[in-house]
Amino acid sequence: MTTIISGTNREGSNSLKLAKYYHSQLTNKGFDSEIISLADLPGDLISSDLYGKRSEAFQGIQEKISASSKFIFVIPEYNGSFPGVLKTFIDACSFPESFFGKKAALVGLSSGKYGNIRGIDHFTGICHYINMHVLPLRIHIPNINKEFDEKGNLYLEDTIKFTDQQIERFIEF
Ligand SMILES: Cc1cc2nc3c(=O)[nH]c(=O)nc-3n(C[C@H](O)[C@H](O)[C@H](O)COP(=O)(O)O)c2cc1C
Repeated sequence: MTTIISGTNREGSNSLKLAKYYHSQLTNKGFDSEIISLADLPGDLISSDLYGKRSEAFQGIQEKISASSKFIFVIPEYNGSFPGVLKTFIDACSFPESFFGKKAALVGLSSGKYGNIRGIDHFTGICHYINMHVLPLRIHIPNINKEFDEKGNLYLEDTIKFTDQQIERFIEF
């Protein structure tokens, strides 16, 4: 199973829009995937699911993660890095079996100029620590507010070209 993680719990996030775009592109290429949005995490995650605790609300998410062998992480830039809730989510998932030996593609986005270059680097370090294999082609999308058409699809030629390249390589990965 392949899971696309939308890496923030912010309501109305561009990350979730982009996760849906990746999901639809994978579907068009005949590749099944599912989205987990961090907006669906239990609101009391920091008291309910860290340090060996497991809530019923998180259990379903944990089962999907455990059943997945490939992941796409869609990660917004928050204060020059990835969101804290994404790290909390990784910390809440069972270790090491959730991600050990599995594959990941990383997509960064920001409303500013840099498309989360630094946050994707930071998150790559964590992926390596938890023994994930990271697809070498990592994508950075700056100025995200100008990237979607009214249906929520990417429409700029370069962005479509580079995301498509990443999706093709991810399918083969
Ligand atoms: C807490 C927070 C910190 C942010 N920090 C940055 C930043 O350092 N650089 C930047 O370009 N955009 C920053 N942004 C804007 C995000 O890049 C913007 O919200 C973008 O749409 C992607 O995130 P989203 O999935 O929340 O929509 C920040 C947004 C939030 C909520």
